[in-house]
Amino acid sequence: MHKTKLALALTAALCASCGPGNSGDKDPAIPGTEGYDPAKIELARKSNCFSCHAMGKKMIGPSLKDIAARYRGDAGAEERLIHKVARGSSGAWGSIPMPANSPPVPEADIRALVKFTLELK
Ligand code: HEC
Repeated sequence: MHKTKLALALTAALCASCGPGNSGDKDPAIPGTEGYDPAKIELARKSNCFSCHAMGKKMIGPSLKDIAARYRGDAGAEERLIHKVARGSSGAWGSIPMPANSPPVPEADIRALVKFTLELK
């Protein structure tokens, strides 16, 4: 009896951290995304960007805010970054490369995500 309850509690606890790929369920909020356009956050989430990027701190990849800060005032950055997110990037931030995201992420979505990233403050 006790064991069953414990097992159930454990399963529930583990599932709360299942993360993306656990389709159907509503995912827990991604830290640091409060107050931003929920449609863009959802697009980034379903495009898998948050597996490697966070809004405000470095993870596997640089934080989205660090990317915005680095390219602020760089008029050509948007087109370059769209290309890099689609085809992959290496050597810009460190030794870990970003694999190509397109496919599966459509170019139009990448365009929207790069615009969103570059406008972050
Ligand atoms: C598997 C991990 C991973 C995923 C998934 C990923 N990235 Fe990255 N991203 C990285 C890493 C690592 C870098 C740094 C690459 C480098 O140093 O050139 C990076 C760099 C970037 C850059 C900056 C490139 C530059 O030249 O400065 C942008 C913009 C970016 N990612 C956006 C995205 C977006 C948008 C998505 C979702 C469609 C995404 N990333 C998905 C790991 C990832």
